[in-house]
Parts: sequence; structure tokens; C-alpha cells
Amino acid sequence: MSQVDRHLSGQASLATGAAPPARLGGAPSAGATIEFVGVAKRFWKGDTPVDAIGHVELVVRPGEFLGIVGPSGCGKSTLLNLAAGLMLPTAGEVRYQGHLVRDVNTRVGYMTQKDSLVPWRTVESNIALPLEIRGLRGRRKRELVAHYVELVGLKGFERHFPSELSGGMRKRVGLARTLVNDPETLLMDEPFGALDAQLRLLMHEETLRIWEHSRKTIIFVTHDLAEAVLLADRVVVISARPGRVKLIKDIDLPRPRDVARVRFDPRFGRLFEELWAALGEDVRRGDENR
Ligand SMILES: Nc1ncnc2c1ncn2[C@@H]1O[C@H](COP(=O)(O)OP(=O)(O)OP(=O)(O)O)[C@@H](O)[C@H]1O
Ligand SMILES: [Mg+2]
Repeated sequence: MSQVDRHLSGQASLATGAAPPARLGGAPSAGATIEFVGVAKRFWKGDTPVDAIGHVELVVRPGEFLGIVGPSGCGKSTLLNLAAGLMLPTAGEVRYQGHLVRDVNTRVGYMTQKDSLVPWRTVESNIALPLEIRGLRGRRKRELVAHYVELVGLKGFERHFPSELSGGMRKRVGLARTLVNDPETLLMDEPFGALDAQLRLLMHEETLRIWEHSRKTIIFVTHDLAEAVLLADRVVVISARPGRVKLIKDIDLPRPRDVARVRFDPRFGRLFEELWAALGEDVRRGDENR
């Protein structure tokens, strides 16, 4: 595998199985998968500072499904990049299982907002990439790839290149590639935004099935408040930039959830309204500032 392959694959953000948190340091603290402690992030556009994240305090609990919503540009992807160790905060600390995230966090699988597929690799070879990085070859590799190709509904497209796929299909390859290494924590950034409504429903079912079965910790960023409510245990509303935690709401809808029906539950409507009251304000404010 070439260096370019590794780079384009987003290897940095792909899980490598049960390896220890090699490049994480600091004193461990119990009871949290990820902690954002007073986190701020400033970018620079020439001489002009862009404060993406103001001051975020957030504890992600082990095994929870955490939804994150917020207006465009409020720093949601930046939060995931920080958790994945792809960048460092300007102030505060990000901790993973009590250890300071100082470098690439190999314990998480990261499905980034951009699909970052390797253009010269086929569907199956893109999905196989994290396994190859781990040194897995032969029959086991082929079985795992075939399983995930089927899981995301791409059977028959194994030999297609990314340029020969629709946007939704590319997203599904990205999902399979994130799942194939069985990471203990999943960071998902707008994973189903490009899919049509029916396929989204199927992917919601599949995501919940995987989560209920594995109890991985999932952080799921979405523009779609309904999607966050129907999937998550808790939904975090981030304010307009510079992002701060504006509201955290427990989603007390029963599990297992039937994603096709849960939106007709009166509790769903109440939760949606309450969250929208917090989110809508900032979305409108963001819109006025554009
Ligand atoms: N690498 C970077 N360099 C400079 N500015 C950046 C960088 N990454 C993000 N930003 C800026 O930080 C802010 C937050 O960006 P981010 O991508 O985290 O927002 P977001 O909430 O994910 O938005 P969206 O919902 O549109 O995906 C934006 O103003 C963006 O322009
Ligand atoms: Mg984003």
C-alpha cells in the first residue's frame, strides 16, 4: 500500500482493533469515554481569527449514543476532529478514557463528513484498506469485506470505483470502511445526509442494530434534529459559532426503537419541540448573519 493510499484513506482516523491507546498520555479518570474539558478552538484565516469552539464542557458516557446538532459552522466537525486527535485544542483538554488526546486517537473509527475514498481503489478494496493497514490478509479479510459490502447494500458493486458510484453509495462505502475494523467508539459526521429517505431509514435501523448489539459509544453529528432524536440516548445542542453546549436533553424513548414508528410517539414530538426551541434560535441567528 502506498503512502498516498494511507493518507487518502484517512488512516489516521480509522480504528486499528484492540490495540492499546499508544499515543495517548495523561492520568486516567474513570467513567467517561470522551471528555471535553473547557475546550476552545481558534483557527486563523490569514490574520483574522476564527473562533470555531468557544468553551465546551461535555462528557460522553461509555456505550451511549450521543447525538450532536447545531447550526452550520458551529464547530461540530471540529469537535469530532479533536476527539479523533487530528488537531489539538487552543485551550482546554480532550480526554479519551481518561487519557489526554495528544495525537491520532487509534481507538475511534471516524466517518468524516467528506467521504475521502481512495479514487483508484474499488469498493471492496476501499473497505479492505483498514484491514490491510492492520496486516490482515487472505480469507478472513475477504470474508469481512464481503460481510460489510452486504451490510451496506453494495453487493454487485464490489468492483466499482468511487467515480462510478452515487453520493449515497460512496457514503455507504465510507460506513463499511469505518465499521470493518470494529472500533470501540464511532464518530459519525453527517453520515446519512446524502441518502434518500428510504435508504436513510434502512441505515438508521442498521446503525441501531449494530449499536444495540455491540454497545459501542457513538457520537453522531447531524443537521437533522428528527434523526438525532430517533437514534440517540442524549442530544446535545451546540450554539452558533463559537460553539458552546447550549442544551443536553435525555431522550427517554423506549428501546429497542422502531425507527419507522418512533416519530409518531407523542413523546417524540415533545422532545423535538423542546430541542427545536433551543436550536431554532441559533439557526435563525446564523441565517441573519450570513
Ligand atoms: N482547518 C480549518 N481552518 C480554518 N478554519 C476552519 C478549519 N476547520 C474549520 N474551520 C472553521 O471553523 C468553523 C467551524 O467549522 P466546522 O467544520 O467544525 O463546523 P460544522 O459545525 O461542522 O459545520 P457544518 O454543519 O456546516 O458541517 C467554521 O467557521 C469553519 O470555517
Ligand atoms: Mg461539519
